[in-house]
Amino acid sequence: MADTPIVQMEKVGKVYGTKIQTRVLTDVTFTVQQGEFAAIIGPSGSGKSTLLNLIGALDKPTEGAVKIGGETLSGLDDEGLARLRRRYLGFIFQFHYLLPDFTALENVLMPFSVAHGAPTRQERKEAIELLERVGLKDRMNNRATDISGGQQQRVAIARALAGRKPLVLADEPTGNLDTENSNEVFALMRDFNLKDGTTFLIVTHDPNLAERTDRIISVIDGRIAHDVPVAHPK
Ligand SMILES: Nc1ncnc2c1ncn2[C@@H]1O[C@H](COP(=O)(O)OP(=O)(O)OP(=O)(O)O)[C@@H](O)[C@H]1O
Ligand SMILES: [Mg+2]
Repeated sequence: MADTPIVQMEKVGKVYGTKIQTRVLTDVTFTVQQGEFAAIIGPSGSGKSTLLNLIGALDKPTEGAVKIGGETLSGLDDEGLARLRRRYLGFIFQFHYLLPDFTALENVLMPFSVAHGAPTRQERKEAIELLERVGLKDRMNNRATDISGGQQQRVAIARALAGRKPLVLADEPTGNLDTENSNEVFALMRDFNLKDGTTFLIVTHDPNLAERTDRIISVIDGRIAHDVPVAHPK
């Protein structure tokens, strides 16, 4: 269904540990529609990364349900989860985790290589187009270590988008960048959001970036403290 939310969190809780238990998330409920561009903010340790990891099917909730594209994650086995991640999810982290011995292009092709071995011609074409969109086509054969930090993060964006992922989860994607590179990375994410309808959930400590999204979800002590639309001047 076209209007099935891409993310549904229903009374989600997370407790780490068995002997010594730490409650990290409590009663988290919200939905995200396809095409949203939202920020997740909150103090250090409030549970933002845990929340993103649950949405990304990288971790399992203790209570409640996480649904991606209408599918309840707890109903899927490991293979089903891997398939769902391949179909829906791109990840961007503070540290880009590019493979240093591979070129920019090979890094963008990595999701395809991991999924099924050698990338197809069409996948190569898509990867080159993505690198062009992030302004790095002329660097596609450079090793990932031979480009600047800001360029590396742009390669990471292209990699997250490879395979036309409808949902990108970004955990402090600009946390390691100076203002100029932060703005550039942010603008690229917004460009993919506006032109391709890609949904973005962006964890950030930067209030200026959060204010430039369309929705701010704030997490305090593991609970959703505020969830508000951002008004943009026309
Ligand atoms: N695997 C784990 N085992 C036990 N506790 C954990 C684990 N991962 C996170 N925590 C704890 O859960 C709480 C929330 O951590 P989380 O990383 O989600 O916070 P955060 O909001 O992303 O913080 P930051 O802004 O510093 O990245 C913290 O108290 C953290 O110590
Ligand atoms: Mg974090």
